Amino acid sequence: MNSMSGANSNRRDFFQLVLGWGAALFAFCASLAGAARFMIPNVLYEPNQRCKLLKPEEYEEGATFIAESRLFLVRKGNTFRAVSGVCTHLGCTVLRNSKGNGFHCPCHGSQFNENAVVTGGPAPRPLPWYLVELSRDGRLVVNAAHVVAADKYLVV
Ligand code: FES
Repeated sequence: MNSMSGANSNRRDFFQLVLGWGAALFAFCASLAGAARFMIPNVLYEPNQRCKLLKPEEYEEGATFIAESRLFLVRKGNTFRAVSGVCTHLGCTVLRNSKGNGFHCPCHGSQFNENAVVTGGPAPRPLPWYLVELSRDGRLVVNAAHVVAADKYLVV
């Protein structure tokens, strides 16, 4: 009787020991996993800021709004330039003026002239102009990561 009870006691002690070490190992691994997760930045990576468009001859004279990139491609003869369509006040999408001579923001009334310089309203800065290049296959590419002066054109 005593030996049976001693064997049960030993088995119980063994399982308690295994359970204890298992729990300790689990807690250790969980804390390691938490620490490893903390080392990985919890951010989204920037989307590609290069926007490939059509061939130059496929755009009409004047400004064409490129909705997926929220920018305007402006053609004047054989020259092209691109300007952001994102208002520098609070980020609304600006609209082309009906006379085709600048932009305005429908949210709080900011006004921008033909070179995207602020002429009225709360916008603190001009709309940025972006580098326009030609790809190897002859299509226009706007690089929104590369801001240029308003008078920088791509001549095709
Ligand atoms: S977001 Fe354009 S004026 Fe406020």
